[in-house]
Amino acid sequence: MHARRRTVLTAGAAGAAGLVTACGSSGDGGRSTTHAPEASRSATPSTKAGAASADGSASPGEALAKTSDIPVGGGKIFAEQEVVVTQPEKGEFKGFSAICTHMGCTVAEVSEGTINCPCHGSRYRITDAAVVAGPAPQPLPVARITVAGDTIRLG
Ligand code: FES
Repeated sequence: MHARRRTVLTAGAAGAAGLVTACGSSGDGGRSTTHAPEASRSATPSTKAGAASADGSASPGEALAKTSDIPVGGGKIFAEQEVVVTQPEKGEFKGFSAICTHMGCTVAEVSEGTINCPCHGSRYRITDAAVVAGPAPQPLPVARITVAGDTIRLG
């Protein structure tokens, strides 16, 4: 009996302390300028790059590669940024998520017109990332890229 009551009291005190802490921190940030609306407005309005920016590792505008790094009729995988860039025809660049839609492996190779996942053999067409083989349920999402001069950037 006593032990149970003490447990409840302890839990209550801990809960209260937690609440105080939570209130204090949210109060400090209550004015919330973290979204920086002006900064985001100055960027391209629709810079959502799907999975590529989900973890924040790929900030918009980051230079990925030179156009000459991407083979015509092939592509290159940027595992760190979780993006694959293809060049189906000379001067035509496409960006896709490098995360396989089957179970989330990072695709590992671009060859013979497809982007290939090493885990279970899914293959995606370099032109539009449509699934051409394997268990992947859907195409790779598009990742926004921008080509300026000879530089390919995210976003
Ligand atoms: Fe890519 Fe299964 S995770 S084929």
